[in-house]
Amino acid sequence: MTAQLIDGNALSQYLRGDVAARATALQARGVTPGLAVILVGDNPASQVYVRNKVKACADAGLHSVLEKHDATLNESALLARVQALNDDPTIHGILVQLPLPAHIDAQKVTEAISPAKDVDGFHIASAGALMTGMPGFWPCTPYGCMKMLESIGYDLRGKHAVVIGRSNIVGKPMALMLLQKNATVTVCHSATRDLKAQTLQADVIVAAVGKRNVLTADMVKPGAVVLDVGMNRDDDGKLCGDVDFAAIRGVASHITPVPGGVGPMTITMLLVNTLEAAERAAGVRS
Ligand code: GUN
Repeated sequence: MTAQLIDGNALSQYLRGDVAARATALQARGVTPGLAVILVGDNPASQVYVRNKVKACADAGLHSVLEKHDATLNESALLARVQALNDDPTIHGILVQLPLPAHIDAQKVTEAISPAKDVDGFHIASAGALMTGMPGFWPCTPYGCMKMLESIGYDLRGKHAVVIGRSNIVGKPMALMLLQKNATVTVCHSATRDLKAQTLQADVIVAAVGKRNVLTADMVKPGAVVLDVGMNRDDDGKLCGDVDFAAIRGVASHITPVPGGVGPMTITMLLVNTLEAAERAAGVRS
């Protein structure tokens, strides 16, 4: 068996086209969806991420504002900026790029963002909404994974899904989303005793650890669907994910590549969330 690729670039292109069309429709009602991105300090990876986010907004017809602050910015000044953006009617989504400098309490800043503008889905209110099945913003990376499963017409009902990783940004929300679609969900992590015994039972595996070769071909049931959230470098400095892609391709039915898999979907879902925030603000969505 050679697994089919789930192409995150192609799916992103399709979904971003839909975002652009809906943004145009909103614009006709006098509302331009707006995203504010705040970057504090000069972390090189963060600089690349925010640049990509701002460019994706422009390409989809969304307004964006990039606020760059010196690493010495103090917490109260940042909280004041967040408050000003909460009050700004031209801004529908607010994203404070993480990590923040150590002298700033990232959780406090996240909780300062209005839940109505929390397009990252990191606010406790968003997490609570996801947990209880109420409307709210879903974190972009696991939301993108759900869209990838949807794109192959995968019905999760009664399936066994194994999530490797338990972060607040990916692993935990991923498990809740899979559960909401009626999968039986197992969350594995660094203290899991026999990871292979778990993954061999899985119809769907999501690897979100941030370590190469967490999942190898002998750990995958033939025909399983494998989603790779990892973003690592191999010995040659080439981008790779958390799973042994080449070998697992011979076992799985579907797999996401790295690059070109989950990565582009994260930004795509940020655009979707921002657009939906604007639609809610404009009263065209509940
Ligand atoms: N840092 C790395 N990924 C993310 C993300 O999705 N959102 C924010 N705010 N910071 C990040």
